[in-house]
Amino acid sequence: MRLAGRTAIVTGGAKGIGKHYCHALAAEGAEVMVADIADGREVAAEIAAKTGRNSTDSMIFDVSDEAQCKALVAKTLERFGKIDILINNAALYAPLPTLKVTDIDVELWNQVMGINIRGPFLMVKHTAPHMIARKYGKIVNIGSGTVARGIPEFSHYVTSKGAVTAFTRAVSRELGEHGICVNTLAPGYTLSDTGLTNTVHVEKSRAGAIQRRAIKRDEYPEDLLGTLIFLCSKDSDFMTGQVLAVDGGTNNT
Ligand SMILES: NC(=O)c1ccc[n+]([C@@H]2O[C@H](COP(=O)([O-])OP(=O)(O)OC[C@H]3O[C@@H](n4cnc5c(N)ncnc54)[C@H](O)[C@@H]3O)[C@@H](O)[C@H]2O)c1
Repeated sequence: MRLAGRTAIVTGGAKGIGKHYCHALAAEGAEVMVADIADGREVAAEIAAKTGRNSTDSMIFDVSDEAQCKALVAKTLERFGKIDILINNAALYAPLPTLKVTDIDVELWNQVMGINIRGPFLMVKHTAPHMIARKYGKIVNIGSGTVARGIPEFSHYVTSKGAVTAFTRAVSRELGEHGICVNTLAPGYTLSDTGLTNTVHVEKSRAGAIQRRAIKRDEYPEDLLGTLIFLCSKDSDFMTGQVLAVDGGTNNT
């Protein structure tokens, strides 16, 4: 139980990879707030069945909206009394269409930026004051292996995740003196249940991803959990501002 007594918020925790993050954090003893624009009650109920009703809760919220981020932080503090861990996982990814840069509407571009980078900024803005007051915190921003390579017809997404990496580095410089570590976990192409529903992504990415890896197989959400828990535990207390690529050896970041 490496996270016993810790409280975590997981944005985008109701589905896809985020659901696995919620279960992994709870299995290590953390209290988990499942926060998502989708309903996370089922995930919270599954966790509660294993680790007790008081170990988890869920809230529907939109990470791109400041008032809703503030409300999420307030509810988490009311429910659990503190926030030790923030996993900035919510993003517009699985349903996102691949488009040439010349075909991306400004509205879609702004939506991707609003969720994928304004979202993590808003969550840090409203969570960090509570971590600073307690002189402790672990913030894990979920980036992407696409940033190191650049991929075509996905410039909205790749740009937003590049910003996540830069945001991590900048913010780590401000929060380090308060005992807060801020790192990026960068998955490779991962077979999440939500991602698999986008057949265009699967056709364009799956085979090539395996071919580019040193370890030649598909990546699953379970492959990310050891690194996630490491970044949330005291084992990584002297690491901040870093990108940890978990991609079977595709990128050397
Ligand atoms: N699956 C991959 O291949 C892969 C690779 C690299 C990085 N990632 C990143 O990992 C994370 C999870 O990816 P996934 O595969 O589970 O895809 P996903 O698209 O299912 O995950 C995104 C989650 O965020 C939630 N969400 C979307 N908009 C939101 C909003 N406005 N407010 C709150 N929540 C919102 C979704 O409901 C979903 O639960 C994302 O940050 C994604 O960019 C995924």
